[in-house]
Amino acid sequence: MTPKILIIDDEEKMCWALERALSHEGYQVVTATRGLRGIELARENELSIVILDLKMPDIDGITVLKLLKKINPSIPVIMITAHGTIDTAIEAMKIGAMDYITKPFKLEQIKVQIKQALHLTNLEGQVNFLRQELSEKYGKLVGQSAAMKEVTLLIRQVAKTNTTVLITGESGTGKEIAAVEIHKLSNRSDKPFVALNCAALPEQLLESELFGHEKGAFTGSTGKKKGRFEIAHKGTIFLDEIGEMPITMQAKLLRVLQERCFERVGGTDTVHVDVRVIATTNRDLATAIANGTFREDLYYRLNVMRIIMPPLRSRKEDIPLLVNHFLEKFDPSHSKKISVKSMKVLNHYNWPGNIRELQNAIERSLIVCQGAEIQPVHLPKELLYSLDEPTTPIIDLTEGGFSLEELEKHLILKAMEKHSGNQTKVAKYLGITRPTLLYRLQKYGLNTPPSRSG
Ligand SMILES: Nc1ncnc2c1ncn2[C@@H]1O[C@H](COP(=O)(O)OP(=O)(O)OP(=O)(O)O)[C@@H](O)[C@H]1O
Ligand SMILES: [Mg+2]
Repeated sequence: MTPKILIIDDEEKMCWALERALSHEGYQVVTATRGLRGIELARENELSIVILDLKMPDIDGITVLKLLKKINPSIPVIMITAHGTIDTAIEAMKIGAMDYITKPFKLEQIKVQIKQALHLTNLEGQVNFLRQELSEKYGKLVGQSAAMKEVTLLIRQVAKTNTTVLITGESGTGKEIAAVEIHKLSNRSDKPFVALNCAALPEQLLESELFGHEKGAFTGSTGKKKGRFEIAHKGTIFLDEIGEMPITMQAKLLRVLQERCFERVGGTDTVHVDVRVIATTNRDLATAIANGTFREDLYYRLNVMRIIMPPLRSRKEDIPLLVNHFLEKFDPSHSKKISVKSMKVLNHYNWPGNIRELQNAIERSLIVCQGAEIQPVHLPKELLYSLDEPTTPIIDLTEGGFSLEELEKHLILKAMEKHSGNQTKVAKYLGITRPTLLYRLQKYGLNTPPSRSG
């Protein structure tokens, strides 16, 4: 959708110049040279942003701003001010103008400010969107095992409080979905759930993402920007992979946890927020503390309430439930079901990647399987062999939907793995001659380039 911009300025020349420049940028533009006409246009149009002159003959900019905010409280407004009206500009900011620009200005300057304002509203829009889509995106926490029941109970208890929560567990065990569940069950559920992966950003960016920045805080920052903590106000902030947070940032986070306040990058005003913090890690923080990469005091602040997500292998009784859940999710028309043999394979496997791995396996098998029943042949190959004896399939593969060729190929592949590609050993292991092995390797395209040393 093309953003639509409303320009309200009594100077026709200014309206015209802005309209031209902004249409050129690809925006839709509507203009008004009278404040009241501007209000009318704001009612009739779905606007992305308003550029508003502070000084106009019919009604003054502040009044127009108040009316605009009544029509749409979240509409970003950039005020145009003249020198000497800075005080009014500040008043405008207090009423909810997002930014201001002082006359005379370069068109480039306002273009940048518009871009930034749109970026920020997108972020806020995303938050709203997320709130609605939270359930759809994450689904529910499935599991009836004793371990999962315990987790669910903890989640329900902690949801009622404002306590900081630390969720730990291996990769793919559902740490994020548990955090969302806490948020959904809390009385913050109609406020934003804002997630940030602490491992994904370099330190400077991470700081400005978390706390926002003021105009001109660093090179290239012309506008001010709200951080995730401000966006999450009254809601929940989810700090993923907190163990990866640089130590200097940990000090700043500690202060937010203790005092619920911070300063934006390049700013001196203290911002107060009411935010619940949920953090996760799959790193052993005790070791990180011992190594000096994680602050002990921060650890105690985070660890007020700990939820440990159990690995899937320790609650295998949940596997059939989860399989059905994911079949439902990826095949809502129930066109395919899972064979008994496949279920046996899924139950047997150790799932180092936990629920995410199981989910991927089901999604993939539905794509690969053309018939009405998912057979072992449709499952990822690593599921078919036991971990301690990698050449031994855990089910009779001839009944798993495999062709003889596929079976043979897998067997050779596994034997090659076991004997690190040593063909003499593999041939012996399989009970065939070396030339037969070479022939088979070629046939299945498994032949490795001849080694130079030999
Ligand atoms: N108990 C569960 N019921 C249903 N779906 C689940 C469950 N646990 C996890 N999932 C699904 O598995 C996937 C991985 O879960 P999630 O992202 O919450 O794991 P994680 O612990 O945060 O993993 P990582 O450490 O890799 O970030 C998600 O798609 C999630 O919806
Ligand atoms: Mg995660």
